[in-house]
Amino acid sequence: MITIPYLTALTTYFSYGLLFAFGQFRDFFRKIFDWWHASNLEGYAPICLGLEDFYTRRLYLRIQDCFGRPIASAPDAWFDVVERYSNDNNKTLKRTDKISRCLNLGSYNYLGFAAADEYCTPRVIDSLCRFSASTCSTRVEGGTTTLHKELEECVANFVGKPAAVVFGMGYVTNSAILPVIIGKGGLIISDSLNHNSIVNGARGSGATIRVFQHNTPSHLEKVLREQIADGQPRTHRPWKKIIVVVEGIYSMEGELCKLPEIVAICKKYKAYVYLDEAHSIGAVGKTGRGVCELLGVDTADVDIMMGTFTKSFGSCGGYIAGSKELIQYLKYTCPAHLYATSISPPAAQQIISSIKVILGEDGSSRGAQKLARIRENSNFFRSELQKMGFEVLGDNDSPVMPIMLYNPAKIPAFSRECLKQNVAVVTVAFPATPLLLARARICISASHTKEDLLKALEVITQSASFVPDCISEILNRVQYVRVSKCYLILLMIISFMAGY
Ligand SMILES: Cc1ncc(COP(=O)(O)O)c(C=O)c1O
Ligand SMILES: *[C@@H]1O[C@H](CO)[C@@H](O)[C@H](O)[C@H]1NC(C)=O
Repeated sequence: MITIPYLTALTTYFSYGLLFAFGQFRDFFRKIFDWWHASNLEGYAPICLGLEDFYTRRLYLRIQDCFGRPIASAPDAWFDVVERYSNDNNKTLKRTDKISRCLNLGSYNYLGFAAADEYCTPRVIDSLCRFSASTCSTRVEGGTTTLHKELEECVANFVGKPAAVVFGMGYVTNSAILPVIIGKGGLIISDSLNHNSIVNGARGSGATIRVFQHNTPSHLEKVLREQIADGQPRTHRPWKKIIVVVEGIYSMEGELCKLPEIVAICKKYKAYVYLDEAHSIGAVGKTGRGVCELLGVDTADVDIMMGTFTKSFGSCGGYIAGSKELIQYLKYTCPAHLYATSISPPAAQQIISSIKVILGEDGSSRGAQKLARIRENSNFFRSELQKMGFEVLGDNDSPVMPIMLYNPAKIPAFSRECLKQNVAVVTVAFPATPLLLARARICISASHTKEDLLKALEVITQSASFVPDCISEILNRVQYVRVSKCYLILLMIISFMAGY
């Protein structure tokens, strides 16, 4: 659990409150202004939802230069970020011809396969020539190539399950599979911080959804006991089945799943375990086989293993691995298998080749070196950040490390200041995180060198000291100020104005 300091919470709420108030104020005047212009959409309900639309216009648009920055190269350790300018206070951003070469701390390029690779790239080009960019067909029609078959065998073998099926998109893998394996009368128990693809898959399934406190096995057990005792709503009949859904590494927290404890509880209550390894497969474990390998869990105890190829493997798509029966059933019934175009052949080849490198089947030790490197880099970077006094979330060995920013003013300030010094960082805020818990998320790669990491640390410290201090820090410094209510409010307004 993140414990947010009282004053930080106060100033953060205050900042959002002020943004909200000014936004509403301006909207009010805009409405009066627009009153005279007859609307030609008379009788229609607004197509954009009220609060989401407000959030986008009045909060997100003010700092949108920090998001969706166009890139003009492969997402390697360093990449080209296109410079943009605006003539209307960043409401619209225009691209220039200029690029800046930036250190990439944002891509999920854990093993460095996202850029040209001496083993993978020539094979991917060959497959592009042989199979073309798309199969233009679904898997059950003309969309299963020899590459798709090879890929599924390769993935099943890599993750340690009898069979696997692959899909063209990781997001769809979750959102389309959950409705196939569970429905009305079933129960999904989901970690409170599970990815949106899981949330939407669970909602679309029609099963009852219960949430347990993030990564807290004791609470999972409590929910399981209560739900099993209670049974289905109204009828109180036993649940048709229960699936517990967790992630290997939580992408916004950088935390490792407490898998051994969770698996033990699920066994005790006969609930299936669904494990999303999007961020952990390839990135952790001695041979890159994910959290099961890292935490010593037998893959036979995880019923449904899901993962994506968009991170460690430098490709796209997702997989489900499980028993032969389960996979065969999914191939007969899953709409994403039956009705969606199959994964692009060059993308499939990229996955096959990168797994071969990881396993050392390319005849070199590059895979093992990459795995050692990502571990060293991540642990070094995390410990340095902690030494510098940053509030860093997550566990050792995890390449994802969020630095807490909290205050909305700090989001653009930190991001822009880093970019000025050629370091590209990703910042995340509501709705991807809870409102108060905005953060910068650093993703470390095996392709970062020691110099890269040292530069990153230097720039991050500098940018952080530039970022407007929050009230608590100001109060600490200005000790002679007697903290009356009036002063507090004045200081908040000053800090707010400094931020915007
Ligand atoms: C845990 C988790 N599951 C699924 C996905 C979706 O995967 P993709 O980006 O490959 O569609 C992501 C994406 O970041 C993720 O973090
Ligand atoms: C617009 O974005 C730039 C950085 O891209 C920033 O320096 C500037 O302050 C922003 N302007 C406003 C009005 O937010």
